[in-house]
Amino acid sequence: MKMYYDDDVDAEVVADKTIAVIGYGSQGRGQSRNMADSGLNVIVGLREGGSSWQKAVDDGMNVKTIEEAAEAADIIHILLPDETQEKVYKEQIAPYVEAGNTISFSHGYNIHFG
Ligand SMILES: NC(=O)c1ccc[n+]([C@@H]2O[C@H](COP(=O)([O-])OP(=O)(O)OC[C@H]3O[C@@H](n4cnc5c(N)ncnc54)[C@H](OP(=O)(O)O)[C@@H]3O)[C@@H](O)[C@H]2O)c1
Repeated sequence: MKMYYDDDVDAEVVADKTIAVIGYGSQGRGQSRNMADSGLNVIVGLREGGSSWQKAVDDGMNVKTIEEAAEAADIIHILLPDETQEKVYKEQIAPYVEAGNTISFSHGYNIHFG
């Protein structure tokens, strides 16, 4: 395994990007706060009325609906439970993806297994 550290990357390439983190659970909370602490422009995309919405607001995050976050973002980082990703992607994210956007995951199960 190759490990990457701060010195291996040039954070300037994302400095002017808007990053939507979809989901605020185990991974979403940690990763979005990490990126926000690093000075990046992060929007947390959640469903209104869900239990994590208020938590993200209380953490001081910029919270929007999944659709609003996807539409505003250059980079859409999907951190939902794997079994929900297909439906949410097709219905709430895909309509807002534009050419040049980046979509990323922290486990690509759905992609890897088709
Ligand atoms: N957990 C780990 O240790 C770990 C480690 C490595 C990689 N991963 C990967 O990271 C990704 C995220 O995993 P996780 O464990 O962080 O997930 P998680 O904690 O279960 O994610 C919960 C978040 O997903 C939202 N969510 C759940 N169902 C939804 C739906 N139908 N529509 C909209 N939002 C929904 C929840 O919103 P509400 O509050 O509204 O329900 C909450 O913000 C997965 O791909 C997983 O394989 C996880």
